[in-house]
Amino acid sequence: MSLETTARTEGAALGHLAARLTLEEKVALVVGAGTWETTGIERIGLRPMVLSDGPVGVRGGTGSPAATAAMFPAPSALAATWDLDLARRAGALFATEARRHGVDVVLAPQVNLQRTPVGGRHFECYSEDPVLTADVAVALVGAAQERGVGMCVKHYVANDSETDRTRYVARVDERTLREVYLAPFERLVADADAWSVMGAYSGVDDGHESAPALEHRGLLTGVLKDEWGFDGVVVSDWVATRSVAGAVRGGLDLQMPGPDGVWGDGLLEAVRSGEVAEGELDDKVERLLRLAVRVGALRLDGSAPEGPTSGASAVGHGTPEDAAALLRELTARSMVVLKDEAGLLPLASAARVALVGPGAVDLFLLGGGSSFVVPDRVTCVVDELRTAFPATEVSVHAGARPRRNPPLLDVAALCTDPVTGAVGVRVELLGVDGTVLEVEAGQPWDGWRQDVLADAATLRLTADVRLTEPGVHGLGLGTVGVHDVRVDGAPVASGETVADTGIVLSSGHNHPFAVVHEVTVGPDAPRTVRLAADLQVVHPVGYASFVRAELVHALPGPSAEDELSEAVEAARAADVAVVVVGTTEEVESEGYDRPDLALPGNQDELVARVLAANPRTVVVVNAGAPVLLPWLADAPTVLWAWLPGQEGGTALADVLAGVTEPSGRLPWTLPARAQDVPVPDAIPVDGVVDYAEGVHVGYRAWERDGLEPAAPFGHGLGWTTWSYDALEVAPGGDAAPDEPAGVVVTVTLTNTGPRAGREVVQAYVEPPAPDADRPRRWLGGFTTVDAAPGETVTARVPVRRRAFQIWDTGARRWATPPGDHAVRVGRSVRDLRLDAVASLTASPLELSPTTRSHGVSAPSNSARRHP
Ligand code: BGC
Repeated sequence: MSLETTARTEGAALGHLAARLTLEEKVALVVGAGTWETTGIERIGLRPMVLSDGPVGVRGGTGSPAATAAMFPAPSALAATWDLDLARRAGALFATEARRHGVDVVLAPQVNLQRTPVGGRHFECYSEDPVLTADVAVALVGAAQERGVGMCVKHYVANDSETDRTRYVARVDERTLREVYLAPFERLVADADAWSVMGAYSGVDDGHESAPALEHRGLLTGVLKDEWGFDGVVVSDWVATRSVAGAVRGGLDLQMPGPDGVWGDGLLEAVRSGEVAEGELDDKVERLLRLAVRVGALRLDGSAPEGPTSGASAVGHGTPEDAAALLRELTARSMVVLKDEAGLLPLASAARVALVGPGAVDLFLLGGGSSFVVPDRVTCVVDELRTAFPATEVSVHAGARPRRNPPLLDVAALCTDPVTGAVGVRVELLGVDGTVLEVEAGQPWDGWRQDVLADAATLRLTADVRLTEPGVHGLGLGTVGVHDVRVDGAPVASGETVADTGIVLSSGHNHPFAVVHEVTVGPDAPRTVRLAADLQVVHPVGYASFVRAELVHALPGPSAEDELSEAVEAARAADVAVVVVGTTEEVESEGYDRPDLALPGNQDELVARVLAANPRTVVVVNAGAPVLLPWLADAPTVLWAWLPGQEGGTALADVLAGVTEPSGRLPWTLPARAQDVPVPDAIPVDGVVDYAEGVHVGYRAWERDGLEPAAPFGHGLGWTTWSYDALEVAPGGDAAPDEPAGVVVTVTLTNTGPRAGREVVQAYVEPPAPDADRPRRWLGGFTTVDAAPGETVTARVPVRRRAFQIWDTGARRWATPPGDHAVRVGRSVRDLRLDAVASLTASPLELSPTTRSHGVSAPSNSARRHP
């Protein structure tokens, strides 16, 4: 049976099934049954489907903090490998992890673009470039779906920053949307047959329609469903649905979570009142049922479906060890050598290595927000290095303090209930009028109290805290909302600002700023102080009520300056120093954008002073998004190590010890100076984020402006050198019948260095003539090749037809401007080694799918070598 006939037969069967459903069942189907589950209907053999975040691993459907998961490196690290085979293997691991956790659909990948380096979710995105984003995402989604696990591609569309994210409208012209922000979604539908897409919190104004993303009929129904033929489910971002009829007509298929919310409370009524026709639900119901068939939650032959963990047999029983091995390889491969002037990488054996910096003690593994997972294991770079270099003395020194808040108070060890004397804190829940509704003595406290009584307004927390060490302690509490905090009766902090319970829980609640009170403990220690706090109970829309109170405690100890000097002295005394500095989840998180690009705390000072003390220093940057490196010129060797996930320790040790080449290349531009950044922030003005830069996103703007970044897009040195020897460009049609016609670029290159290595061969396209509406050059395609020292290899880079096309806004279709397009290959957008010409003839202007090579002539001799 042909694919088309199968789809028709399946479509008919789904239609038949949908017709058997009552109106109530149809409405229940398009609204979540809980926070992470869809509705099951037993009489048709449909079980609930489980959805779970997210881009750095599969957290597990229930959100239970006890479940651990394989924690991947941040998505930007995966993109930094530019390795589609690794992306496919990562997709397969997502499928295995999904089934292990009983999950049918993983809420990933995020294919929004890194429009501004301050974007809070920058680390969750792949790249500032749509082609790299699309290629990685297609490989990953395809591999997961082949194994029967759905991936929910998010967030459709132009949801590229976090400031006021539930309210802003992204004003993006149609051409920019098509050529840049919609491009990865289009590829995922065309090439990976994506089964679900998540609609964004924000809105879009594309010049034709200005509407919240979930109500944007032009983009959801017009483009995604009708034009591209997407037959999957449009899922709302969590608690993002704002209207009944508007979202029904816009194209939303499934409101999450449920069963309450706008659709839960109003959809049935809207159909009964005639505001929404029952027929408008049928297409949505069929889409839901199709997804259920795809993930194995429904069988069209009427037999009982398998449970969500059963698919594990189909995806293979990967062990946590298998997962760790893949993540270790992937993470090491993702690391980018920004510079290595002194040839310090990999480290030679040495008598003494000083590991310095907050990241040396505790790597920052993942960013903040909904992508959070509890890792199966955490690896430690110090232990791994000691194993790799048994004869070396490895010392460790934090040296700097990147975090705003002191460490968490050890409640179990230090706190007792002031009334009962039981270990823990005393919790009293009070109503609006101050009546005590509930008392809990001697409670453990991890910073949160979830699922609080619906009628509670205030949580009163009291504890006697026993401070044992003489010296100055810092005792504090970070919270959100109205609060009043006292230590031994003295006011410490108070605030009248009511927590934002708006449309969705703010991620800022994860990282409240703690006010710290100094308590001096004399030589006659211990001393017991009374901590008391009245805290607002937050009742957010669509989520369970909670109270936030991060209890923090700074022990007496060395001053920041003493800590820094000790680290610098250790670096001076060592043969080599490795300084690991970076961001934290307070800085890189969903829910807000960064105010600036600086490394937090006194880390820049630490790096500068270590470099002055020991020129044989490797600086490792442990961050997902760009940070400014003011000491870069003085650093001989700099390695970008991302937010590396659970295998950060093993992978970094593998790179330092020479086990795995750090063959990553930057998927974004690293700015040298804040003032050069093309889109320095995304603060809405009158509710609008104006994408005024048009198609000039990321490196395209740096190329337009001719400014020098600290490192350009695509940059990364690996640990060997390459010569680019020859280039040929041929029409893509005949050479690769399975690829949309464009051109195939064949590059001959030689590993001229002393080590076996991997090169990422990048092909850029330039327009026939300078054109202000087009970038100066853009990525057309890429591939990776491996070669032994001295070996010459051939790289084949397909460049899709779309790379030569523009969106013709007048005609509302793709067009191919004729003329000679330079095709340039090299090691980054600024290190181009060879070029050739692809001539697109004037007639016909469009390359039709049936004559795919038509119009492309590729003079194979035109390769020119750059000096
Ligand atoms: C995020 C989504 C996520 C969802 C469920 C939202 O706040 O924007 O990316 O999948 O929550 O956790």
